[in-house]
Amino acid sequence: MVTKLSFSMPEQPLYRAQGIFSHQSDSIDRRERKRPFGPLSNFVADQLPHCIAEIKASARPGEAVKALGRSINAMIAETDYEAQLLNLPQSEFGVAKTDIQYLVNCAYQMSAFAGLHSVDAELTVGEALRQLARVSRQRQPSIDVLSYEDMILTNPLQSDPRVYCLGSAGVEERDFCLGHQLIESELQSAIDALLALRDAVGADARQCLAVCVERLESANYVLARFYERMSPDLFGQFRVFYGKNPYKDRLGPSGRFSARIVAVSVLLIGEELFHQKPQFYMDVYRLSEYYPQGCIQEVFRWLSPDKGGSGLQPSWLEGKADFPKFATILPVIERHGSETRKLLASCVCALDQFSRMHRSTALKYTIEPGRPIVGVETSESVEAVLSQRLLMAARQS
Ligand code: HEM
Repeated sequence: MVTKLSFSMPEQPLYRAQGIFSHQSDSIDRRERKRPFGPLSNFVADQLPHCIAEIKASARPGEAVKALGRSINAMIAETDYEAQLLNLPQSEFGVAKTDIQYLVNCAYQMSAFAGLHSVDAELTVGEALRQLARVSRQRQPSIDVLSYEDMILTNPLQSDPRVYCLGSAGVEERDFCLGHQLIESELQSAIDALLALRDAVGADARQCLAVCVERLESANYVLARFYERMSPDLFGQFRVFYGKNPYKDRLGPSGRFSARIVAVSVLLIGEELFHQKPQFYMDVYRLSEYYPQGCIQEVFRWLSPDKGGSGLQPSWLEGKADFPKFATILPVIERHGSETRKLLASCVCALDQFSRMHRSTALKYTIEPGRPIVGVETSESVEAVLSQRLLMAARQS
């Protein structure tokens, strides 16, 4: 089934990308307020970074963070936010969930900063906030910590961003998230084009692949801005808020949990990936709760058409069946000539380029400076994760 076609307006993300990491301003221009929770959203967008700065500067950070927790819970107790949460339209619900998870994550990260023990950290989060987070997960099942979706996809970054830092570090933090969001938008256009090719009878293969390669090259352009222009010092300042949860056995919001990267990879190189890097698929199934659920479930449906995408590891991954090649565009490409195959090779090359450039970026900002790894379990190797989608043939070219 073709979900959505969006071949138009490709210029916008690139135009926005030119402005990221420009270091020309130390304040965020909030063009249009997105405040689904009224005073609570106002607090997250306008006050939270100031409260964090005060705790950091405080002589008694433990007391200061507990006081912050109490005042957030008192604010929640004043209004029936649970009812509001259940009645919001979906787009506003996404922002409200981001607000909740930004608060929860702040309480945990600042408790750890202040050296609080687990019991005190849970008291700081507080029952009212915890209950609100529970209700948000009842409406939309998701992992019980700040997710990639909360931080990148439903955070209103273009108009009224949620960030933890003040001043230039806050602007850099906004641009870090916005850059991810722009890449996600390019990936969505690439997916739409590939789905049209795979599923729509009579789709123009050349046009679909040309759109795909163009969108992936745009994603590479945005990623290059990270590599060239992001300040390592400012990155270090905001990175600390997006780490693993210090009290729970949970990973942090990492680009690793971009379901659209998984979708593009499956559509373009799905079967080869299975033969060369089966671990990639095992990890996606094992860590599926961390991904945006709508998109990853759709990919699971492609990969297990019979089971309706239950999310359980499919039998082909255990070698008990053939890989479902109709999840990819390869069967369609086989019906076309050499020109189409060349275009496919360009798409694969652009995706490979993304993974390699990303690896250099991760080395430059995280691994070489020794900053904490947020999206890799202690039993895994970071190097293996960073090369988990690289194919041998593409690597040698
Ligand atoms: C300065 C920018 C970035 C840095 C320093 C960085 C760092 C990392 C690190 C250290 C990992 C290993 C897992 C973890 O600990 O999170 C990782 C994984 C990953 N990141 Fe990033 N990342 C950056 C930008 C991006 C962007 C913009 C995307 C696009 C959505 C992205 C997508 C991924 C993916 C898909 C993985 C899993 C490895 C793969 O499949 O290639 N990252 N990143």
